[in-house]
Parts: sequence; structure tokens; C-alpha cells
Amino acid sequence: MTTVTIERLGQQGDGVARGPIFVPLALPGEVVSGTIEGDNLIDIRIETPSSDRVSAPCPHFRSCGGCQLQHANDDLVANFKRDTVITALAVHGIETEVRPTLTSPDKSRRRATFTARRTKKGALVGFHARKSDAVIPVPQCILVTPALAAVPALAEALAMAGTSRKAALSVTVTESIEGLDVSVTGGKSLDGPLRISLAALCETYKLARLTWDDELVGMRIPPVQALGAALVVPPPGAFLQATQHGQDTLTALVQEVVGDAKSVVDLFAGCGTFALPLAEKAEVLAVEGASDMVSAMDAGWRKAQGLKKVTGLSRDLMRRPLLPDELAKFQAAVIDPPRAGATSQIAELAKSKIPAIAHVSCNPQTFSRDAATLIEAGYVLEWVQPVDQFRWSAHVELVGAFRLTHTR
Ligand SMILES: C[S@@+](CC[C@H](N)C(=O)[O-])C[C@H]1O[C@@H](n2cnc3c(N)ncnc32)[C@H](O)[C@@H]1O
Repeated sequence: MTTVTIERLGQQGDGVARGPIFVPLALPGEVVSGTIEGDNLIDIRIETPSSDRVSAPCPHFRSCGGCQLQHANDDLVANFKRDTVITALAVHGIETEVRPTLTSPDKSRRRATFTARRTKKGALVGFHARKSDAVIPVPQCILVTPALAAVPALAEALAMAGTSRKAALSVTVTESIEGLDVSVTGGKSLDGPLRISLAALCETYKLARLTWDDELVGMRIPPVQALGAALVVPPPGAFLQATQHGQDTLTALVQEVVGDAKSVVDLFAGCGTFALPLAEKAEVLAVEGASDMVSAMDAGWRKAQGLKKVTGLSRDLMRRPLLPDELAKFQAAVIDPPRAGATSQIAELAKSKIPAIAHVSCNPQTFSRDAATLIEAGYVLEWVQPVDQFRWSAHVELVGAFRLTHTR
């Protein structure tokens, strides 16, 4: 038996003691005992609990792997996420105002992926268990919206219709204004009889849209998302901010940075999450790699009333970033790359004279690396706002406000 004191939370939300020894579900300051296995402590007993420890609000927390931090109070989680950002910035010697974390409420995740398996008696639906492939049913999950709480019955029916006993279905569900938008992978190949069964399920469960391995099986009604004043039908499985609260928060922050700019370039624009609301006041060039997302944004913009021009451009920004002469006409830029960041596009932005850049990121490490490039080029990082759309996980997103304060 070994006794250790937890010094901090690690990147996955585990407690970390000197060594490092990783202790799941332990909090900073706690004294815990257990058996060391590799660099983990197992058979853990909390000897001295932290005053920040709380009873998990979800009954599934002990077994479900969907959440990592429900045993900590809200302040500890919010400060942990803010500290993660501060630490990542410090690696590059960057100091700036890091605002307190803004957190989405419970029951607000509008998009989630459930696993569905056939069993001897029927089907099992839920999320993966902590660090395991086992499926844990989550009928009282407090993460997802009430509309998604209805998914298990649907996913069971999908598993019964479309998978063998050995396979597991991956059922990604997004709440839209018109009903659930469901995208399934990992099932049987789509043949005539399966197509008929799935179309019937689409009706029974009043789904907006059902796709099976990227093939459209049924669309009762287009699964519309409101992006500012525009209504957009994203392609199946397309990126969408995880909560409405997160989308609204990020959009307001981007608008704060962009200010009164009359021409904006939105890089890694998706279906227009930022471009379309910004078009209420500015002309926008929205650049995105996936051409079907650009088409979806364009269709939404064309039907919306009162927006300024939004021009969609499909381009691989990693291989062919926008160059300084292409960036020259914009008064502000928004950039929201995937987790890996956007080294090549940031290098070109660093050479540009765009006065304001709103950098949205889901990875404080790559954000800090890219921030260092912009700062080196003369930009000032005025503030960073951590945003928590993945409540009770170790994940954090952020917006950074960059301004060019002098002419180079
Ligand atoms: C984090 S998402 C942000 C999307 C959008 N800003 C939003 O908030 O909905 C990143 C986007 O980058 C796009 N993307 C990924 N790789 C790309 C590339 N090489 N060139 C251009 N866009 C890319 C993805 O399709 C995705 O839409």
C-alpha cells in the first residue's frame, strides 16, 4: 500500500502525485492510498478528501467515461481549465489577461455519439465506460439536452435493425430545430431490406434526417441550425459547436474582437457559425476546406434577409493558406482551426497587416504556439477567454484577441 498527496490535475483530469503517479478521480490536496501499477494508483482509498470534493450530480458518473470531473465543485473545474490555458501560454513566455472560464449549463450538449451493441436479449446503448470498451447505459445523463435523452430507444432500434451481434454501432446525434439529425457508422451494409427498415424507424422516431455510413437513408425535414439570422442545413456529421450556449458565447467574443470592421475574413469557417452572424455588420469571406459545408453556408446566406455579402471559398488552408496580398483588404480576421492548429496560415497572418484577429481554439497548446508567432510579428494578445462547452471533461476551448498596435 502506498500513500501519496495529489499535487495537481493532469491533462486528462486525473489527480497527479509526485512521480508522476496518476490517480483517477482524485483532487489536488487529497491524501490517497492504493497500489502502484506502472504510473497509476489502483484500488484507491481517499484518506483526506479535498474541501472541493462534491457528490457527483449524475448517477452514472462512477462507471461512465463521458465525464471526468463531476467529483469536483464548479469553481475547481473552471479554475482548472483557466489554469490549463495560463500554463500553455507560459510555455511560450506569454502573459496576458486570462478571463474567468465561461461554462455551458448542464443538459446543454446538443451533439453526442452513443455506442449501441446487440445483446442476447436486445440491445445495449450508452457511452463507453471509463478507460474501457464496455458500454454503460446513461438514462439519466445530465450532460445532453432533453431531446438527446430520448436517443437510447432509437439507438436500440437501430442496433436491432442494422448490426450483427459482434459489431458496435456508433450513433452520432445532433439536435436541430426540426428534430434529431442522426448519423450512424459501423453497421451492416445498406441493402434494400435494411433501407426499408431504417426508413420506417426514421418515421417512427420522427427523425429530421438519418444517414447510414454517409449515405442518406431518410430526410423527413431538413435538420436546420440557426447561425445568426441564417438557417443552415449542415451536411451529415459536419462540425457544429457542442452547445448552443458555447456557440452564442464564442460568437459574442468573436464579435467583440472584430468590432466595427467592415470586411472580415473567416478562416476554417465550417458552415458559417461566425461568418453568418458577422454578416449582419460586415462583408465576409468565409474559407473552409469541406466544399459541402461551404455550399450549406451559401444556401443559408442566400435565403436569409438583411445580411451583407458572404462569399464562401473552399480551400485547403493547411496546404494553401491565404497569402498576405489576399489578406490585405480585410479589417479583421477570425481563425478557428482543428486541434493541430494552423501553423502555415498563422505564418501568413503574421506577415499581414490585419488590425484585429479573433483566434478560436480547442487546444491551448497549439493556440499558444500560434500565438507566439503572431506576437513575434508585432501583434499584442490583449486577452484570452476560456470557454467550457465540454462540462465535466478536461477539455477547454478559448478565444484570443490579437491586435496590431503599430504599423510594421
Ligand atoms: C474547429 S472547426 C470550426 C468550424 C467553424 N468555425 C465553426 O465554429 O463551426 C474547424 C474547421 O476546419 C475545417 N478544416 C479542417 N482542415 C482544414 C483544411 N486543411 N483547410 C480548411 N479547412 C479545414 C473543418 O472542416 C472544420 O469545419
